[in-house]
Amino acid sequence: MQFYVMTLFPEMIENGVNNSIMARARAAGLIDVTAVNIRDYTLEKHGRVDDYTYGGGAGLLMAAQPVYDCCMAVKEKAGKDARVIYLSPQGRTFTQEIAEEISLEEDLILLCGHYEGIDERALEEIVDDEISMGDYVLTGGELPALTLIDAVSRLVPGVLHNENSAEIDSFQNGLLEYPQYTRPEEWRGKKVPEILLSGDHAKVDAWRLTQSIERTKERRPDLYEAYMSNKGTTIPEETGSGKRNQFPRDSGSS
Ligand SMILES: C[S@@+](CC[C@H](N)C(=O)[O-])C[C@H]1O[C@@H](n2cnc3c(N)ncnc32)[C@H](O)[C@@H]1O
Repeated sequence: MQFYVMTLFPEMIENGVNNSIMARARAAGLIDVTAVNIRDYTLEKHGRVDDYTYGGGAGLLMAAQPVYDCCMAVKEKAGKDARVIYLSPQGRTFTQEIAEEISLEEDLILLCGHYEGIDERALEEIVDDEISMGDYVLTGGELPALTLIDAVSRLVPGVLHNENSAEIDSFQNGLLEYPQYTRPEEWRGKKVPEILLSGDHAKVDAWRLTQSIERTKERRPDLYEAYMSNKGTTIPEETGSGKRNQFPRDSGSS
């Protein structure tokens, strides 16, 4: 999957994707991330890309021309139909479901605003979708773009070494993930739950599902309600006799 990021701060994007799993995925050719400097496309003297807002108000706004011309140049490489997503506090809030939907794209163009944002006319011309990272305002779209790239990349086949690990993560089946433990069996007087040492996979699965449901009920009642109102969902007995979760999006992984 190829990401193009239109930004005034390309080094932020480069620094953000040059580590850990994303760096390995790039080296393996599973994803690529190209940061494109919007400033390179301005026709203004001295590389200026922003100006005062009509009607008054504090702060500067990114002008339409460099954003539009940059996008046209990126589309020469990405293809004219490549989807353009503007990272914006006014967009729909990013979720795992949206990450899954985006992971089906081959080429994606991300637009990062800065200062007071971007002239509305450029947005009207080039943007297909607006995505927000939450109800708060950041100084720029670069961190949201990196968050989106990270969440989407780990869904691209081959990026995670253990293909199953994305499937059991929180949100993937509509629930938060169950608690997990690694060695040693006892630490500061706290023991790993005995059932996890039993070797009985059916019981372990049932325990994990129960834990996921309980944790979701306690921490995210909104998700719990949605999960429980879904037909076919069953809560297993703690002993492990219950059926696996049948939430629709879980059907491929359980
Ligand atoms: C200071 S913000 C502009 C906010 C804009 N004046 C408004 O009130 O909607 C500058 C840029 O940061 C990015 N940004 C800020 N908060 C964001 C959020 N919650 N999600 C995604 N992008 C965000 C956007 O790209 C935005 O153009």
